[in-house]
Amino acid sequence: MPHMSGIELLERVRQSGITSVFLLVTAVPTVDTAIQALNLGADRYVIKSDKLIEELKIVIGREMQTIGLREENLRLRREMLRVFAVKNIIGKSQKTQAVLEVVRTVAPTTSTVLITGESGTGKELVARAIHEASARREMPFVSINCGAFPETLLESELFGYLRGAFTGAYADKKGIFEAASRGTLFLDEIGDTTPSMQVKLLRVLQERKIRPLGGTSDIPVDVRLIASTNRDLMALVSEGKFREDFYYRVSVIPVHIPPLRERREDIDPLARHFLHKYSATMSKALRDFDAAALAALEAYAWPGNVRELENAIERAVALSEEDATVVRLHHLPEFVRLAGPPPVTTDNEKLVQIPKEGLDFEISISRVESQYILSALRVAGGVRRRAADLLHMSYRSFRHYAKKHGI
Ligand SMILES: Nc1ncnc2c1ncn2[C@@H]1O[C@H](COP(=O)(O)OP(=O)(O)OP(=O)(O)O)[C@@H](O)[C@H]1O
Ligand SMILES: [Mg+2]
Repeated sequence: MPHMSGIELLERVRQSGITSVFLLVTAVPTVDTAIQALNLGADRYVIKSDKLIEELKIVIGREMQTIGLREENLRLRREMLRVFAVKNIIGKSQKTQAVLEVVRTVAPTTSTVLITGESGTGKELVARAIHEASARREMPFVSINCGAFPETLLESELFGYLRGAFTGAYADKKGIFEAASRGTLFLDEIGDTTPSMQVKLLRVLQERKIRPLGGTSDIPVDVRLIASTNRDLMALVSEGKFREDFYYRVSVIPVHIPPLRERREDIDPLARHFLHKYSATMSKALRDFDAAALAALEAYAWPGNVRELENAIERAVALSEEDATVVRLHHLPEFVRLAGPPPVTTDNEKLVQIPKEGLDFEISISRVESQYILSALRVAGGVRRRAADLLHMSYRSFRHYAKKHGI
């Protein structure tokens, strides 16, 4: 071989980061070169002989097997990562499982994702899971709340600025787009951006370039965007408050997280998850809920969704007696307690059953109220005016009762 020895070539190949299989074939075998070759990362050391071709066939066959195994291994690891990344998203309802399925499917792509859902439904949690399950997981996940900044400040936060771009810009500052380079940028509360900000973001999405304030040239950016909002963007579009072209760019892959009241099967596993979490951090012995407490948790409307449930459980754990092992109704906040199931009526006599130990009249009546309000809301598809009509009451009264019961 001209210009360099096999050992030298091997050294250069490995230095350049090429990971392909390397077979060193030699006619002058010495123990030294053999050891050196293997130390430098040669996969095989083959000695030239009359049977070289046959021998190479065997050696290459074995190496192909190894490569196959390695690829299979990588595939399995990637698969495990995807499963792992969503493991802290709790929920057995079909709706949550459907969200997780989308997360697993879109994570490996670079498509822009729009996560919608009421406050506290887990939008940021899902955004992080998408990042964790993607090839970008080693790179940064940067989150910015677009509603928290006035427009000019948001612009300099996102795109950065050059020294002298405005009064007070004493030195160059990199923007968040650059900080998130090769990672994921989470634009929280995208519905709160102004139309002129949306034009700027649209440009980034289309051209994959940013221009810092005061700059004269563009900088290419490699960032995966995930946006989220608790507002109805379509409605904002029709009101002229959100640009339609930006809406379509952002919502390439829409992921909607339903409110907790529409996936009540999740309440039980979520409540247990938070119970174990807070019981451990507060060194309590709480392991379970009694039936009444669980029924109340499952009946309540959770307007603040998972975050509200988490807070209620944290509070219950904090307030529980030192030796308590189960969470009981009286540990729960009043508005949750009131949401428990209404008393059962016996069929024949249309009489309410009074349990042996008696019951609290005010609470029982209150529960009935709350059940009617909730049921009417469900029948009315969440439209409050229609729910009020169903109960033959004014919208005002309906609002009064809904507020009273935290619905
Ligand atoms: N499915 C879930 N499993 C476990 N924890 C959850 C789940 N959904 C939400 N949470 C927890 O609930 C809390 C609120 O979630 P998160 O901050 O992601 O909500 P959000 O939709 O971004 O809320 P907001 O609109 O108010 O910003 C977090 O502590 C989060 O870990
Ligand atoms: Mg959030």
